[in-house]
Amino acid sequence: MKISRAIVLGLTIVLGAPFAVAAGDAAAGKGAYAVCAACHGPNGEGNVAMRAPRLAGQGGWYIERQLKSFQAGHRGSKPGDSDGMQMRGLAMSVSSPEAMANLIAYIETLPSKASATTVQGDAAAGKTLYMTCGACHGQNAEGSEQMGGPRLAGLDDWYIVRQLKNFKGGLRGSDPADTFGRQMAPMAAVLADDAAINNVVAYINSLQ
Ligand code: HEC
Ligand code: HEC
Repeated sequence: MKISRAIVLGLTIVLGAPFAVAAGDAAAGKGAYAVCAACHGPNGEGNVAMRAPRLAGQGGWYIERQLKSFQAGHRGSKPGDSDGMQMRGLAMSVSSPEAMANLIAYIETLPSKASATTVQGDAAAGKTLYMTCGACHGQNAEGSEQMGGPRLAGLDDWYIVRQLKNFKGGLRGSDPADTFGRQMAPMAAVLADDAAINNVVAYINSLQ
């Protein structure tokens, strides 16, 4: 325990310090979140009618990466990606690293609950497919910051389906500068058809 903490601390000093952003102020972020709540829900629970996914329960490191990814145009800049484009405009409104840190600190306080099941599939078949996914997303879909794979457990199933199709169709993960998206895109390509997508999503639903 002592040793690993020392290593983590050492890495933080070596890698993190020159770029360190002060930890966010959740109270300040709460006010800014009111804009986000219109689509993502007051508790970050997601809203299928607004096509905006659950944010509650997701790792702050991943939310930060996605906001930056939208800002840089790795996400939400491809013709045909109307959902991503809508979100890109919102991400552009998060104007400073401090504002982003505050927002994320607030989102991290939101309660993480299970999402409703809207996608039907064969979870047993999906379990076999998920064996590949677990390496980066965790065996229980809890996410792995080390591997860069976000938490999938508890994420809205309709959103997971949309993103897998976005990766397959090149709307996401095809920009040469999108390092993490480019790791995920070939993994989505492994899912042969819509039935395979639904099956793996049915299995992920069983993990929440
Ligand atoms: C007008 C509606 C709208 C508002 C307001 C909005 N979003 Fe979004 N957001 C979306 C949609 C739609 C998506 C899904 C994009 C896609 O399908 O690729 C999204 C996706 C995201 C994602 C990616 C989540 C993931 O798991 O991939 C993050 C993070 C996010 N929004 C954060 C925010 C924050 C923070 C705010 C407030 C500053 C905000 N959003 C405001 C509609 C909105
Ligand atoms: C080699 C590692 C790796 C494997 C294996 C992998 N993924 Fe991913 N996945 C990622 C990374 C990294 C991201 C984040 C991409 C980004 O930052 O935009 C991601 C993102 C996703 C997302 C988007 C979630 C969101 O909130 O935006 C979904 C859905 C997803 N993966 C599902 C799967 C499924 C299902 C499998 C198995 C078929 C799988 N992944 C296998 C690395 C992987």
